[in-house]
Formats: sequence, C-alpha cells, structure tokens
Amino acid sequence: MDRWILSYDDYDPDAEGLREALCTLANGYFGTRGAAPESSADGVHYPGTYIAGCYDRLSAEIAGRSIDNADLVNMPNWLPLAFRAAGGEWFDPDRARREGRLLSHRQELDLRRGVLTRLVRVRDAQGRTTRVAQRRIVSMDDPHLAALETTIVAEDWSGPMEIVSALDGRVVNAGVERYRDLPGEHLTREKCPEPDDPELLLLRASTVSSRIGIAMAARTRVSVPAERGRRTEDGWTGHELTVDAHEGEPFTIEKVAAVYTSRDHAIEEWGGAALTAAARAGGFDALLERHTLAWCRLWRRCQLSVDHVEVQRILNLHIFHLLQTVSEHSVDLDVGVPARGLHGEAYRGHVFWDELFILPFLTMRFPEIARALLMYRWRRLPAARRAAADAGHRGAMYPWQSAADGREETQQVHLNPRSGRWLPDHTHLQRHVGLTVAHNVWRYCEATDDIDFLSAYGAEIMLEVARFFASLAAYERSTDRYEIHGVMGPDEYHDAYPGRDEPGLNNNAYTNVLTAWVLQRALDALNVLPEERRTELRERLALTREEITRFEDVARKMYVPFHDGVISQFDGYADLEELDWAGYRERYGDIRRLDRILEAEGDTPNRYKASKQADVLMLFYVLSPGELDEVLRRLGYEHGPALITRTVGYYLPRTCHGSSLSALVHAWILAHVDGEEAWQIFLEALLSDITDAQRGTTAEGVHLGAMAGTVDLVQRCHAGIRTRGGALQLEPHLPPAIGELRLGLRYRGHWGIDLTCRQDLLRVMLRPGATFPIRISYANENVELHPGGSWETPLDHGRTTG
Ligand code: BGC
Repeated sequence: MDRWILSYDDYDPDAEGLREALCTLANGYFGTRGAAPESSADGVHYPGTYIAGCYDRLSAEIAGRSIDNADLVNMPNWLPLAFRAAGGEWFDPDRARREGRLLSHRQELDLRRGVLTRLVRVRDAQGRTTRVAQRRIVSMDDPHLAALETTIVAEDWSGPMEIVSALDGRVVNAGVERYRDLPGEHLTREKCPEPDDPELLLLRASTVSSRIGIAMAARTRVSVPAERGRRTEDGWTGHELTVDAHEGEPFTIEKVAAVYTSRDHAIEEWGGAALTAAARAGGFDALLERHTLAWCRLWRRCQLSVDHVEVQRILNLHIFHLLQTVSEHSVDLDVGVPARGLHGEAYRGHVFWDELFILPFLTMRFPEIARALLMYRWRRLPAARRAAADAGHRGAMYPWQSAADGREETQQVHLNPRSGRWLPDHTHLQRHVGLTVAHNVWRYCEATDDIDFLSAYGAEIMLEVARFFASLAAYERSTDRYEIHGVMGPDEYHDAYPGRDEPGLNNNAYTNVLTAWVLQRALDALNVLPEERRTELRERLALTREEITRFEDVARKMYVPFHDGVISQFDGYADLEELDWAGYRERYGDIRRLDRILEAEGDTPNRYKASKQADVLMLFYVLSPGELDEVLRRLGYEHGPALITRTVGYYLPRTCHGSSLSALVHAWILAHVDGEEAWQIFLEALLSDITDAQRGTTAEGVHLGAMAGTVDLVQRCHAGIRTRGGALQLEPHLPPAIGELRLGLRYRGHWGIDLTCRQDLLRVMLRPGATFPIRISYANENVELHPGGSWETPLDHGRTTG
C-alpha cells in the first residue's frame, strides 16, 4: 500500500459519486469533482465545479411557505471530452460495462502531486479496442488554471477518430437528492462571440441573484494533425476534432481551462482575463511541473508522519482535501471554509462552526490561511451586529450557517427523506457558533502571538461576541446566577422540550460554560493589547466600565446544570426518557439518523436521552482539563477528579454519532481515559469518508471538519501539543498502535519545530536560524529551547501538565 495513492481498480457505477467526491481536485480558488470527462449529471455521474465564495440565492415555495436558499453555485463544467472511432458510439463507461466491453478501468489519485490519472481499455460495438490514459490537474500554482491530458491508442485498428472537447454551462445545482425539488438554476447564460484564435473556446455566464460574472476559457491542442471545427449552442461551446488514428500509435489531446469571475482581483474584465490565461498557459507538462512544485512546498509545511501505513495514507488524504479547500489562493478571497469542501453541494456550501476542527492544523502550518478564515468572520461583524440587534441584544450574533454576506443561512425547513415530510428547522438556535468564533481567535493568537491581528480585528470579534452572550444571559435573582434560555447545543437532535411548541432549550451546559470562558478571554484580549490600542478599541466599541463589570459578573455566575454526578446537557435533560437503544439497533441496524427514524414513527428525539453528537463532551474537547477546572471553580462548582471519566461514561452510550464530528470528539476524549476504545473510535473517524460510513453522504461532499479534525487529533491529542500562556505544552497520548509520530510545526514566528514522539521518548528540536528561544512545558518541567537546540525526555504516561 502506498501512503500517497488513492486508487480504484475497477469501474463501479454505484460507488461513482463517492469516488468523484474523494477524487475532487481543487486549489482553494475552485474545485472540480473527479467525474469522468465524458459524463454529465445523470444519476451516476455528477461533474460539479465550485468556485470559492460564489453563492447565489433563489426563492421557492415549500410546504406552503416562501423559502429562499443561498447555494454554492455549480459552475460550468470545463471537463467535457468525448471520443469515438468514426461510425462507432461515443465512449460511455456505463454502456461499455453493461455490454461487457469495458476491458479495464483504473483510477489513481496521487496525493503528493495532486494528479488524477485514469487508465481505460475499451472495445466498441464493432470490436475495435482503444486504450486511453488521462491525467488531470487543478493547478495549485496558478489558481485559475486546470488541465486535462488525454492520450489515446488505437490498439488493433486504424481510421478516423472524432473528439469533442467542450465547456458546458447547461448545469444546475442538482447534486443532492433531497434538495432536488428546490430550484437549482443559478446561472444565466450569456452570449459571447467565438474567440479569434481557433484553439480557444469561451463561455460566459452570471449568477442569477448575486450577479457574479463567470468566464471559462479552454484551449484544446492535439499532438497530431486534426481537422478542427467549433460549435457553439446556448450555454455550450466545443471543439470538434477528427484525427487519423493509426494502430499502436498514441496521440494526445491537451485541454487547458482558465476560470475567472467578476470577484477576482487584478483584472479588468473576467472574460478577457480567462482568454488570456488559457492562451498563454504552458502545455500540460509545464503546468504539471509548476503544480507539482507547489504541492511539494505545501507538503513540506505539513510534516506529519506515523509509522502506520494505512493511517498515514488516510491522514494524507485528509490533509490533501483540506489544502485543496483552503489554500494560499483563498487567503485573499474573503471566504470561509465550507463544511463539505469544494467537493459537493451538501449543506449548500455553507460555513458552520467546523472551523473549530479545521483551524488548529492550519494555525501551526499555514497561519496566514487561519488568519484569513478569521478575517472572513471579522468582515461579517456588521451582519452579526445587525442580527443581535434584531433579536433585541447587544454585540454580535454570528449565524449558525453563513455564506456570502454573513446573514443567517440556516434552512427554515428540512426534508426527512424517510417520512417525506418537510419539517421546521430550528438549528439556527445554535448560538454557540459565536463562542467558537471567539475561541478560535484566541487560540490562533495563543499559537501565533499575532498581536497585530488581535489589536486590529481579533479583540473586536471577541468583545462583540462576549457582549452578545453577556446580553443573552439573564440574571436569576433566586439563584444569584445567570442563565441562557431558548438555545440549542451542538447536539441537533434536541431542539425543544417534549410536548412544547416553542423551540429552544434552557442552559445548555456547553454554551453556558463556554460563555463564562469566552467572557474571561475577551477581557484578557483587551488587557494584552498595548495601552493606546486598548483605549482606542474601548472608545470605538463604546465599551464602558459597567459593561466590563457585567462581563466579569456573568463569567463568575453562569449557571451550569448537573445531574447524577455529571454535567447535564441542558436543564431538564435528567427528566427525559431512556431510549431503547438495543431495540432500535435491532430494528433499524444503522441508527445514526435517529431523528429521521423517530420522526417517521411519529416520535421525536426530544423525548429521549439520545444525542446526535458530542454536546457536553465538547467541553472536554475545546478546553483542556486545567481550563475546564478553572472555569468550573470560578463558577463555584466543585467537582471530583473523576468528572471527565464519569461524564464520558454517561454520554457515550447515549450518543448515536449522527454527525461525522462525533466520533472524532469521542476519540479525542477517550484518548485521555481509555486508550483501546479511543483507538477504535479514531479509526472509525478516520474511515468515515473513505468508506462513506455516513451512507451516501460523502458523495455529496467530504466532511471537512472530521477530515481536518483527525489530523489535528494526531497533532494535539496523540502528540499532545497545546499552545498556552506563551509556552508549547506537551502532554502526549500516543496510542499503542503507533510506535513513532513525527511533526514539523510553526509556532509563534518559529518556522521549524520538529517533534518526535515515541512510546518511550519525547523529543523537540528547534531548527537553527530562529532568533529567539521557545518555552516548552512538560509535566512539571519548564524548558527554554534555543535555536539549533534539542530537548528530550523519557515518556512517562503518568505525568501530565493539566
Ligand atoms: C453537525 C454540525 C456540523 C454540520 C456541518 C451537522 O451534521 O451536526 O455540528 O457543523 O453538520 O458539518
């Protein structure tokens, strides 16, 4: 098994959607699913192309309501390339397979170089055998370019061969079955004259309501003399080529595509920019060389290796897809990170709280990308302030789902495919998303010491989020505590109390505890700013002494519910019924979408102690044991040392992992409690997309939070790296299945920290060249490590930093 290759040795129409998602090529600017170039959307194939940040909103009538949805738009398809021996049928893998003429089909994704290769041997109905090799890239060097090279050999025949190489703008958003009743026609086709250069094609379109101009150009060249024609229809333009194929003699068709939009910088007009880029681009090999070098640079910054080949291969796949979704090319685009990557249309390309799982890996390798993702949030502070004001609060209320302008994009109704019913969707009540944003700012600053970011943007986000939660928290005189009512926690299976029409729950523990923590950190952020910046910011935000006193008061007096010696998910959780887990498992097998099962039965998960995903347990994921301990103590909640073990033991069997994030969080927490079970759940999280464990959902886009989260887990949980208080704290939890783990990291302006973690040893080296030392803390030791120096200690799993 190769750590850098994802390969499929056959053609399986049933698995095609999954393979297309996993073989997506992207560069942070745009992405194209790994669909067969000759295919169009037909139920088996779905050749989607998505440009980061290009959303469009359409309205529809659903269940008697007028609903609008913003979608990440499926852009024109640059892939189309079809061929046939004259007089035969166009190559179609599905038909050839059905008729037993698809002799072989192999697909290989080279993760190290970002190249998708396809090797096919096919016999047509006339008995002519043709061999085809295709290589495809979406350039990591020039974000506007992609290329497809097709080499064809007529194995046992000679004669004319017809080829069509096209750009297809007749596409709609139809990649997710349950959204198909909703309008998906986001592109208005535009007429444009054919380019003067006969090698070029140009297609133009614009999005319907966001009016983004899109231009796609393509250049097609053939390595042998060809008769050329060009045909343009409404929304489609193509080169029609005829080549004389000679038995055994390969020839190559090279297609280079260029994509620009009206959102791009440094252009005059996108159509002209696309044409110039396609005309001037080098040939496939030249593009490939620069693309490979770009990937090589990225991988150098992502050093993370474990001596477990299969685990390493999947980690590489996850890093690959993360860097394809957000890269140096997305830094200037003002985009967030879509939960399903640039890989499909699930969740409409929206941005959730998943940065929580994504940023830590980026921060310690590509801090500029992490910063750009935080800037996406900063630019949407005005929208978040408006949302808070509309809800009668102060500060900034970030939306649960975000897209172009930062308004709340959560769907108002969702379809239960099991019952066929459209149901109200209350998930926008997950106010905790704002806490995540503030938390991410703080963690980014801890790891990078980027005080400029904190002063100019970060502290403002944190204070405005703090302001919102301080205003959301209501003082309860009888208990002398602050409470937050009418929200949802991360567990989406509980959105209301049983029997009540009003959505929302009171005192979700995750929200309340994190509120206390964020309020404290927002004040810390203010305090670490240089004096003048602090004064400026306080003036700008009109932050008064009374308000600061309120922050301090709320941070000391938030209410946290407990029952049976564990933290309660929310007030009243203890009164819910136990679910008959065994019965449901026996009846349904897979009960991850318990919400759909229960709703179809006329029931609701609101009645049961049954969670979709980690909720209370998120506290142990987001905060270190020391931090959690500190918040709870400050709030006046004394708890014994076994709180984590007890709480994990309580919620784990009551969670059905309906979100891909759930296994990840449990693996993280269990690593501190039960090594063997943690490893099994880690493998589950790792295999989630590659095996499509959520049954069909990966075909609609990868689960980027879980992908990045598994890589981060190796870094921050297995190697146990924490960036706190200006020191690199180490508390490894290396699973027995891993003998050695090596990481290369960036930390606080240091570009080369090498960490080796073995079962019996922990070593950190600071590469020479740095100008200042770093502080390391392990157990009760504090060490100053100088450039060129190294520090090591025998590993003793009993010692922790807390
Ligand atoms: C999860 C959320 C997550 C979203 C996008 C949902 O299924 O419940 O926590 O943010 O997917 O990944």
